[in-house]
Amino acid sequence: MSTTESTGGGGRPTSEELDRMTPEQLARLAGELDEVEVVHNAPKFPIPGTRAEKRAERSVALWFVISALSGLAFILGFLFWPHEYVAPDQPGYFEYSLYTPVIGFTFGLAVLALGIAVIQYVKKLFPDEVSVQQRHDGSSDEVDRRTVMAQLAAAGKDTTIGRRKLIQRTAGAAAGIFGLGLGIAALGPLVRNPWKGGDDAALWHTGWRPEGDETVYLRTDTGILSEIARIRPEDMEPGSMQTVFPFREAERGNEEELLHAQRASDAPVMLIRLRPGTQVNVRPGQEDFNYGDYYAYSKVCTHLGCPTSLYQAQDNRILCPCHQSQFLATENAEPVFGPAARPLPQLPITVDAQGYFVARSDFIEPVGPGFWERKKTT
Ligand code: FES
Repeated sequence: MSTTESTGGGGRPTSEELDRMTPEQLARLAGELDEVEVVHNAPKFPIPGTRAEKRAERSVALWFVISALSGLAFILGFLFWPHEYVAPDQPGYFEYSLYTPVIGFTFGLAVLALGIAVIQYVKKLFPDEVSVQQRHDGSSDEVDRRTVMAQLAAAGKDTTIGRRKLIQRTAGAAAGIFGLGLGIAALGPLVRNPWKGGDDAALWHTGWRPEGDETVYLRTDTGILSEIARIRPEDMEPGSMQTVFPFREAERGNEEELLHAQRASDAPVMLIRLRPGTQVNVRPGQEDFNYGDYYAYSKVCTHLGCPTSLYQAQDNRILCPCHQSQFLATENAEPVFGPAARPLPQLPITVDAQGYFVARSDFIEPVGPGFWERKKTT
C-alpha cells in the first residue's frame, strides 16, 4: 500500500489511517511529509554475513576495545598512580612526574578511539544514502511527531546494530567504561579524608607551622628567590600593607625549599600596619595575635580562594578582586560585603630579639574556602 493510497489519494492521514499503517509506511510518510527525497539508498553489505562485512565489523570493534582498555587504564591510573608530590632528588620522582601524562594520554586515547569507532561504524556499516529535504517552519503536529518516531525507528533498523552483537558488546563496554571514568574523574577529587595523616594532614596546617623550636620569619618576595628580605616593623609605613611568606634559616640557600615555601597556596599573608590610634576590635582568644599596629591575615579569600590583594588604608578594608568581597582589618578581617561568609584567618605574630617579624604559631583555623571541619570562631 502506498502512502498516497493510505491517505485516500492526497492530504494528511487521519488518526485511524495512521493506526492502520506499518512502521515502514509511517517512516516513508514522514519523509514525504517533510519533503524529503531519498535520492539514493543502498546497504553496504546487501548479503549479510560475508567475510568482508565481518572484517569491517571487527575493525570497528577493535577501536571500541582500544577505547575501553584506555578508559580502564585511565581509571586505574587516576586511582592508583602515585600522585603525591615527590621532590626531583627523591626516589619515586620519575613515577610521580608521569602521573599527569599517564592520565592525560589514557583519557585522550579513550575519547579518540571512541570517536574513531563511531565514525568507522558509520562509514563502513551504515547504508549509503543521499536525501534532499526542503526546509519548512512551524511547530510539529501529531502526524509529524508519530511519523518522526517511526522514522527514527526505521533509521535505527537501517544501522543493522540489532544483529551486530560484537559491536553492541564492545561499544557498550567502551561507552560504559568511558562514562565510569568521567564519573570517577568528576567525583574523585571531592573525596578526601581530612584526618588522613592526623595533625600532619595538609588541610590542617600551613607552611607557617614551626617544627620544634625553629623560627618562622616573615619575608617579602623581592623577585629573587635567594634574596631573603625579612621584615622589621620600621620597614613599613603606617597605613601600608605587604605580602609576606614563611621563611626558615634551614631553607637559606636551598632554592627548592624556598620555592616550595613561597609557592604553597596557603602561604601568602597580608601584613598590615594600621595607622596609629586606629580602633580595633579583637576576637576573643586572639588578643595577642597582633604586634602593636601590625596585623597579619591570610591572603586567601574565604569565598573561593582568590588572593585578597587590595588594602584600602582610608577605611581599613581588604578587598578581593574576584567577586568583590570586603573584609574589615579592624574587625578581625570579618567580611562586610560580598559573598565571603567567614573572616580571613589571623596569623599570630611577634618580633624576635633581632627585631624581625616572626610567626608565633600556625593559623588556628583552616585557611581559604571553608570545609566541613571549620569551626565558627566568632
Ligand atoms: S574569591 Fe574572593 S570574593 Fe570570591
